[in-house]
Amino acid sequence: MSALTKDVLVAVIGAGAMGAGIAQVAAQAGHHVLLYDVGSGAAQKGREGIAIGLDRLVARDKIKAETRDAIISRIEVANSLDDLRDAGLVIEAIVERLDIKRSLFRDLEALVGEEAILATNTSSLSVTEIGQGLTKPGRLAGLHFFNPAPIMALVEVVAGLATDAHVIESLIATAQAWGKKPVRCKSTPGFIVNRVARPFYAEALRLLEEGAAPVETIDMVLREAGGFRMGPFELMDLIGHDVNFAVTASVFKAYFEDPRFRPSLIQQELVAAGWLGRKSGRGFYRYADGAKPPEPQFLAAGARVDHVLIEGDLGPAEALARRLSAAGVDITRQPGVGVLKIRSCTLAPSDGRTATQRVAQGEPADLVLFDLALDYKAVKTLSIARADQADASTLDHAAALFARGGIKVVQCDDTPALIVLRTIAMLANEAAETVLQGVATASDVDAAMRSGVNYPRGPLEWAQALGIERVLDVLDVLHQDTGDDRYRASQLLRRTVRRGDAHIDRKGGATTRNAQ
Ligand code: NAI
Repeated sequence: MSALTKDVLVAVIGAGAMGAGIAQVAAQAGHHVLLYDVGSGAAQKGREGIAIGLDRLVARDKIKAETRDAIISRIEVANSLDDLRDAGLVIEAIVERLDIKRSLFRDLEALVGEEAILATNTSSLSVTEIGQGLTKPGRLAGLHFFNPAPIMALVEVVAGLATDAHVIESLIATAQAWGKKPVRCKSTPGFIVNRVARPFYAEALRLLEEGAAPVETIDMVLREAGGFRMGPFELMDLIGHDVNFAVTASVFKAYFEDPRFRPSLIQQELVAAGWLGRKSGRGFYRYADGAKPPEPQFLAAGARVDHVLIEGDLGPAEALARRLSAAGVDITRQPGVGVLKIRSCTLAPSDGRTATQRVAQGEPADLVLFDLALDYKAVKTLSIARADQADASTLDHAAALFARGGIKVVQCDDTPALIVLRTIAMLANEAAETVLQGVATASDVDAAMRSGVNYPRGPLEWAQALGIERVLDVLDVLHQDTGDDRYRASQLLRRTVRRGDAHIDRKGGATTRNAQ
């Protein structure tokens, strides 16, 4: 299926933050665009806003003045819905209300030509439900841009139950022609990104509730060791707790209160206090004049370590051995279960089990666990936890070893899977469920998380790099230790491990008529 040609007239309805951005994207791609808004002067204001944005790009030499003029000349303000009758593609970006969107599409259906495609930019409503009652619901699809639309590459192309396959293919090709990275998905609550990203917030809130580590420590560890652009708490402060809590609550309700999506009391309290984040001056952090975020507490290194015994293979953490060796630490290797031993301390990468449990199962009483890192070759900060049975000084010894490799450490409570490993396991689990349910393919889920929310790696790619079996073990430990059903592992992960496959994808079985 080919993209809509440039001579197809595009109508954008709603000239707010999203509508204006989408109009710009379509005009940049060469379409003539009609921008309509019910608010008096709103479409004109939207067009002016686009011009101001483009002026800035001209001033920074990003685009030529002629390009700006050409883009602006292609955007025309429509004064009434009737003006949109010749549009071949209508993209709706109005207020997020089902009744208003449905009535708009009913009006549009009667207005535009038979072949015109209707698209909604809804982020939380069902595309299927918006299309219900249309004479031809097959031509309605979701076209979910991310904010700011001219910059963010991801577009989720969403099929409602009645959406025609050729409409989806045409929108995919068109979004590609517009320079975007479209992914296909079925209309389900949260689509891909707003669903798969939930554990990024939920696990951080859960860790905080458990007292695993302070806010600034969890943020720093996920940034520095996890490779995420922002920590979950600073990100929630930026999004606004009212917005983030409302999305979480709506996804929870939409999935019939599946515990995986359960909102957090901590966040509810912030909303109740009016501590909404940056926009209200206070959230998890304070933003009043000159307020500085608290510094995470790094552990002081004990006596210098010159020798380490490494038993077995450290798996993904093998790069640490190379770093220590390059720093002049004398390394002896012998077979074993994958631990580093120095005097008075045994260090192991977390496998999900707590250090306390591992000691109870027979490992040395001086056990300290360290967290997952995106890249052990380069990581500068790690979180570590000691077994309840271990002496407090084990942490100083562990810090001294890591210091030799140029790594600073912070303490995390001895909670299952620590901070990064737990977050990644839960993101991968949600991603796997999304694939299992035929909402999107594994590669589209990964692509969506990379380009929609800038994850350093797709959650499934990450699970594959770690070893799917390891991720499954982590989830099983979390499930068993907490008794909380939110940690139940996706049967797709279990099935993939059972068939000995290194790649997560939906295989075999019957496909339903509706499967994509
Ligand atoms: P906004 O509030 O900035 O703009 C909405 C515009 O629609 C307003 O100018 C309003 O006057 C106009 N409008 C309302 N009812 C209308 C009608 N019946 N006919 C014509 N115009 C009408 O909202 P925003 O943020 O641009 O969101 C628009 C849509 O995009 C919503 O469905 C939202 O869920 C979705 N979305 C928002 C994102 C965001 O980050 N803000 C991201 C992705 C999707």
